[in-house]
Amino acid sequence: VKQTREKGPRKRPFSISSLDPSSAPRKLRLARLRAKLADQRADAIFVSSLHNVSYLCGFTGSAAALVVDEASATLFTDSRYTFQAAEEVRGARVRITKKGLLAEAGAYLRSRRAIRRIAYSEAQLAVAQHHALRKAAGAGVRWVDDGNAVEFLRIVKDVGEIAIMADAATLIDSVVRAVYKQIKPGISELDIAAEIDYQMRRKGAAGPSFETIVASGERSAWPHARPTNRRLGKNELVLLDQGAILRGYCSDITRTVFLGESPQRVRRLYHAVWEAQQAAKGAIRPGATAGDVDQAARRALERAKLGPYFMHSTGHGLGLEVHEGPRVGKGSTAVLQEGMVITVEPGIYLEGFGGIRIEDDVVVTRNGYRDLTTAPRELLEL
Ligand code: GLY
Ligand code: MN
Ligand code: MN
Repeated sequence: VKQTREKGPRKRPFSISSLDPSSAPRKLRLARLRAKLADQRADAIFVSSLHNVSYLCGFTGSAAALVVDEASATLFTDSRYTFQAAEEVRGARVRITKKGLLAEAGAYLRSRRAIRRIAYSEAQLAVAQHHALRKAAGAGVRWVDDGNAVEFLRIVKDVGEIAIMADAATLIDSVVRAVYKQIKPGISELDIAAEIDYQMRRKGAAGPSFETIVASGERSAWPHARPTNRRLGKNELVLLDQGAILRGYCSDITRTVFLGESPQRVRRLYHAVWEAQQAAKGAIRPGATAGDVDQAARRALERAKLGPYFMHSTGHGLGLEVHEGPRVGKGSTAVLQEGMVITVEPGIYLEGFGGIRIEDDVVVTRNGYRDLTTAPRELLEL
């Protein structure tokens, strides 16, 4: 089954054919990975995370493993993906397995006498899978943790990735704007969530980057509420958190709206969250830590005496996965660099009343940041 590539919502600064299938960024990624492996004194890495596989060689099928050593890279997949692998994979040779991916990848490692120490990710392999792999590779191979080598490379995006992520953000922005028109008393949370998911597909997304959140009234105080058949009423908050996957990359945006004319209390709370988001964004620059960004948001809410109601991190890295490095939370020592993409999403949640969150995706620039999501952030009364 050949997976087609989605088209973006608008004209892109450069065509996908000059970006994605080109081997140039992948060659660089493999070179950087090899340097990391040398640091760890590993002869090769066994990559089992599908996100890491696609990052390194372009393959987007649902069953694969990639072995990268000093001089070569070999992708293992099965016969469902013969044609797709031929089209997508760059910089690695392809082995179509017949007797099981792990058995054949393991046998390959056993046959390669020069590979004695192999890095792998404990977090990306089930115990049973690792057992099968070890058995096939034999006792001559020593398995060592890869220290999240590929995930670290992924944190800083190249210009091609940023262009795609800007498109993914623009796409979800336009979904949010379109959906506002449908939000009115009487419609259910599930109806709105279905409309969001439908709109993103219509605009070219491969799908949602996480389960769409629509939470109304008191339920908006659940930061990660699942939409229900509860119908929206007049004079209540509605929190919408959604993201789309476009050409493999995720977007993630939250807006909170009010149905009717907002009372003073809601306006005050909303403004405090907006200020916290502004403060956090103001702390973003190369050299600052992700913890500084979190602290800026937290301090702003503490000043407004709302500290206890902000009970999650200020954000997270965003890319091939909706949650990836760097962690943008309390005490995070990750140093921001140009090209990192993070979310900034302070929120407050008052049990029995409701919740307010404002979330944007931003890219770290040479001297600050740039918003990728730009849907209006002022309190919208619908
Ligand atoms: N919806 C997941 C997040 O905002 O992180
Ligand atoms: Mn979100
Ligand atoms: Mn998020």
